[in-house]
Amino acid sequence: MLRQSIERIVWIQLLLCTLSALAKAPIPIEAPPIIPRSVLFGEDDDDKSNVRLSPDGTMLGYCAPHEGVMNIWIQPLDQVLDGRKTAKPVTFDKKRGIRSFSWTYLPGLILFGQDNDGDENLRLWKLNVTGVVNEPVVVSDTPGVQARLRAVSPKHPETIILALNDRDKRYHDLYTVDLLTGEKKLCFENPDYRSFVFDNDMKLRLATKENEEGAVEFFKAIYADGIIASWESYRNITFEDKDTTRVVGFDKESKNLYWIDADGYDLGTLIVHPFEDPSKKTEIFTPQKAEISTPFVHPVDYTVLAVTENYKRSHTYIINKTIEADFSYLRSQEQVDDIFVHQVSEDFDKWIVLYNFDNAPAKYYFYDRKAQQATFLFVNRPKLIDLKLSRMHAVEIVTRDELTQLCYLSLPVESDPFEVGLPQEPLPMVLSVHGGPWMRDYWGMLRGVQHFTNRGYAVLQV
Ligand SMILES: *[C@@H]1O[C@H](CO)[C@@H](O)[C@H](O)[C@H]1NC(C)=O
Ligand SMILES: *[C@@H]1O[C@H](CO)[C@@H](O)[C@H](O)[C@H]1NC(C)=O
Ligand SMILES: *[C@@H]1O[C@H](CO)[C@@H](O)[C@H](O)[C@H]1NC(C)=O
Repeated sequence: MLRQSIERIVWIQLLLCTLSALAKAPIPIEAPPIIPRSVLFGEDDDDKSNVRLSPDGTMLGYCAPHEGVMNIWIQPLDQVLDGRKTAKPVTFDKKRGIRSFSWTYLPGLILFGQDNDGDENLRLWKLNVTGVVNEPVVVSDTPGVQARLRAVSPKHPETIILALNDRDKRYHDLYTVDLLTGEKKLCFENPDYRSFVFDNDMKLRLATKENEEGAVEFFKAIYADGIIASWESYRNITFEDKDTTRVVGFDKESKNLYWIDADGYDLGTLIVHPFEDPSKKTEIFTPQKAEISTPFVHPVDYTVLAVTENYKRSHTYIINKTIEADFSYLRSQEQVDDIFVHQVSEDFDKWIVLYNFDNAPAKYYFYDRKAQQATFLFVNRPKLIDLKLSRMHAVEIVTRDELTQLCYLSLPVESDPFEVGLPQEPLPMVLSVHGGPWMRDYWGMLRGVQHFTNRGYAVLQV
């Protein structure tokens, strides 16, 4: 094995020397200038993250610094497309910043959360971002209580379901909140469940508990006269399978339930079964090399459209042919296959699409599905646009116990002139080990990696 690898390396190097001799192109060895850490890691006013399209497709929001602190910015989509600089901040936090938000299904209304200086007790605010600048209105901010947004639905735009641990710190009770009136009503007092599954009408259908062996048991809510009369054991997920098994959601009529299911499947297969009979599984997609991420689901039809499997690189597999033409068009726009449909409008005509690169910042596009026309919007970190950044090479390394370990190898630009992932000479290497053990690294532009390669180190991420 080792001999073969060495032979291969020698052959590739010979080939490269021959190629460069033929092309009379000297191998560029000049290292690019040192990128200051402030450029790589500092927040720039033009950085953008959490780009979100409103469900009605009229407004674009994102998080970006305002006076040096992350805040929420909003701009009407038509003005974004006209290239007008009319985005305005709608929150004015001066402390730890606001790093995410979500649109509700009410016109112009967003929700965002903030904890108290890092205590992880999330407080929730609503804010109308249309017209004049409004003050955020509190939805939940009881001291010492953690709010979790649990369900929203286009069918009930004025209602959200919140989980709050206000009665007992250990368990979150469920509340419905009317976003227009602010009225909050207890809808489920939680004896000791861990998590909940709602259908598309925001009706509580399943709840989970974990037993002493770490296995997860799902319970089904049995309703009588519109209220939960009892709970019935529904499915058991073993400790081994629980990290790769999760509910995706219901179909439109809330009759069938989609899962990523590892019971009987190594990596978690996308399956569907009638809600009434979990044993009648139909397989939809079985990944070959890596776990799949949350599928792309139609915003109001709830049909599963595509799944993304990310082994070396991300690849999206089309499940529903109605979006095939869209993806082939989108793939033709850039040199990468690493495309993520970030946000779609409720009518499914407007998409925000993210293209991921390894040696450049990520690009956001707006896609008009009716016209089949993509328009470049912006990159996430404009300061990195003109820098010479390293490529990231996926490599498979056979471990001592003969398993194949996928790794990513990044080399200094000057050491990888043909971008093949073989250094021109031995280099000091930083071994970057992800946290976990259940996590992994992904291909893409990582500033921490670029920091080292720019300073002459190879970086291997296992
Ligand atoms: C937000 O404000 C706009 C303009 O004042 C208004 O038309 C809209 O109904 C408001 N949205 C909500 C959810 O109150
Ligand atoms: C799940 O396991 C428990 C025992 O831990 C058992 O009582 C229950 O019937 C099982 N549920 C199902 C649906 O098999
Ligand atoms: C494909 O998606 C469309 C749009 O949601 C839906 O109408 C159609 O039924 C889906 N087809 C299948 C086979 O699920």
